[in-house]
Amino acid sequence: MGYREKIEEIAKNKQTNIVLALDFPFERPENRQFLIERAERVLDAVHPYICAVKINHHLILPLGLFDGLQRLLRKTREKGLVAIVDSKINDIGETNWVIAEYYFTAGFDALIANPFVGWEEGLKPVFEIAKKNQKGVLLLTYMSHKGAGEGYGQTVVDAETGFNKPQYYLFALKALKWGADGVVVGATYPEKIKEINEVLGGKIPIYSPGIGPQGGIIEAALRAGARFLIVGRAITLAENPAESAEKIRNLAWQCLTARC
Ligand code: XMP
Repeated sequence: MGYREKIEEIAKNKQTNIVLALDFPFERPENRQFLIERAERVLDAVHPYICAVKINHHLILPLGLFDGLQRLLRKTREKGLVAIVDSKINDIGETNWVIAEYYFTAGFDALIANPFVGWEEGLKPVFEIAKKNQKGVLLLTYMSHKGAGEGYGQTVVDAETGFNKPQYYLFALKALKWGADGVVVGATYPEKIKEINEVLGGKIPIYSPGIGPQGGIIEAALRAGARFLIVGRAITLAENPAESAEKIRNLAWQCLTARC
């Protein structure tokens, strides 16, 4: 079963569209053990309410891909979840290929890449290796932070038609053309989610980060067309992560299934 079917099946069975961003603040390298234990505790507490775990540099850098991180990836698998790496791959094809090989070999089910680098000698090798191994590729399309418009929101000339178009619109078209398994659009920009969802025509699921501390609203993002919500600090830094995850999951699932 491919990544896309896997995450949909988990979401349906557990009735949750929450992807946990397993992020924690900076720790001195000598506190690595504390970081692993903290991440494991959160994962143990919240796994019933999530369908996937997204891992970022927050853990990869201090723990090491084939070292401490293996414990967390093992636990992710044991809990019946899929693992996404927030790699934002953004280099030449040869380098992208090596990066993707390492992440997939380490046990990740999907990765995030930046369409800015283009196809030929850019993301083509990443898609090829992902397809070969039934892994997923999610493309950044409009980021969640305040400065996102400076890049993803620029008006650019479409090389194929010669018309002026927003960058994110062309990235959504590329996601369709390249066969992406998901696109990432900030929950902080529901109007962009709506516009991108119309371009995608429901063919590619939208993953939406930015709920809570960044200002995104669950209902607004889902109403606009997001399929999965990526949630970090609102859960990982909550006084009671399980309670917070359950609340977010219940609200989101209710909104997704009964419309809000
Ligand atoms: P919070 O704590 O804000 O964490 O819920 C969000 C997580 O998602 C990452 N992030 C993004 N990843 N595209 C991405 O691929 C985005 O637009 C984006 N915005 C936030 C962030 O690094 C953190 O792990």
